[in-house]
Amino acid sequence: MEDTASKDFGNAVVRVQPGGDSIEAEASDQFVATPRIQALAERALAYLDVGYAVHFAGTAGTGKTTLAFHVASRLGRPVTLVHGDDEFGSSDLVGKDAGYRKSKLVDNYIHSVLKTEENMNTLWVDNRLTTACANGNTLIYDEFNRSRPEANNALLSVLEEKVLNLPSLRQNGEGYLQVHPDFRAIFTSNPEEYAGVHKTQDALMDRLITIQMGNFDRETEIEIAIAQSGVSRRDAEIIVDIVNELRGTGVNNHRPTIRATIAIAKILVHRHARAAIDDPVFQWVCHDVLTTETAKVTCDGQSLMPHKIDETIARVCGAQLKARRNSSRLSLATKGKG
Ligand SMILES: Nc1ncnc2c1ncn2[C@@H]1O[C@H](COP(=O)(O)OP(=O)(O)OP(=O)(O)O)[C@@H](O)[C@H]1O
Ligand SMILES: [Mg+2]
Repeated sequence: MEDTASKDFGNAVVRVQPGGDSIEAEASDQFVATPRIQALAERALAYLDVGYAVHFAGTAGTGKTTLAFHVASRLGRPVTLVHGDDEFGSSDLVGKDAGYRKSKLVDNYIHSVLKTEENMNTLWVDNRLTTACANGNTLIYDEFNRSRPEANNALLSVLEEKVLNLPSLRQNGEGYLQVHPDFRAIFTSNPEEYAGVHKTQDALMDRLITIQMGNFDRETEIEIAIAQSGVSRRDAEIIVDIVNELRGTGVNNHRPTIRATIAIAKILVHRHARAAIDDPVFQWVCHDVLTTETAKVTCDGQSLMPHKIDETIARVCGAQLKARRNSSRLSLATKGKG
């Protein structure tokens, strides 16, 4: 099959298949599979293999969408991607009546007899969930709780009885579609307290196996920063430590996320700069990328952020320098002994 588009999203190489209704997901070179991520993927695959739907839940930037693509690529089936949306109605998932087709047959075979026949057929257009259920695709329903709960009702019977209930208007007249045995579903969601997110109905949650995605461990964040930007390990360590320290101090404890780490790392590489206290590029990129994150931290109407960032950079860079001096002293001493 000819590719119409191919893009490396860092989480998967995604190819849009002709027709544009499904995509192929392949593992990307930039995907980092540390033991923690591998373990999460294996757990998800175990549930999916048995036929359960998997749900990655967690705060922003914890790798939910990336893992969903990775797991989907391991299943090796075409992927149907749907993004949750407040404007969704159930027809956006299932399909809808798209007007009428009128056909008229004029039979004038015997010149003195004119026979006309008129037919009105409802046109039904399948939407993505229907196509995925019919073809046995892997459905990735990203941020599904941005859709209103009632828009997701069709999923209840799909996940439990493996039947998609379709309005009788569907073109071939069938009111039900038997879900293809290879159909699998992977959901992601952000916590309910996020803006624009709805509370999910218990019935849907009860049909999903939820894997809570905590924050990445330090080593995984370092590996991701290196893989996504090509930054040196030393610089990646400094950036990750700064971002992590600021994450603990803001009004919003999950920001700055790994996206800030990756952005700083990419700019350093692009500008041939270093994660060092005296590097002006490092100074401005840290201020620009990190200030917005927790800018609400104020004292007498003044943002404390610039000061907090400078302090954190100084502390982390200082600690790294000290650690490196200690380790080179240690290796000199070991060599001396040898
Ligand atoms: N295992 C990984 N390997 C490489 N990069 C990763 C990995 N996990 C996450 N990333 C990168 O980290 C960033 C955040 O990941 P992702 O978009 O998957 O998070 P998310 O939890 O879906 O966030 P949100 O809730 O904001 O949608 C992305 O730039 C992604 O490419
Ligand atoms: Mg996401």
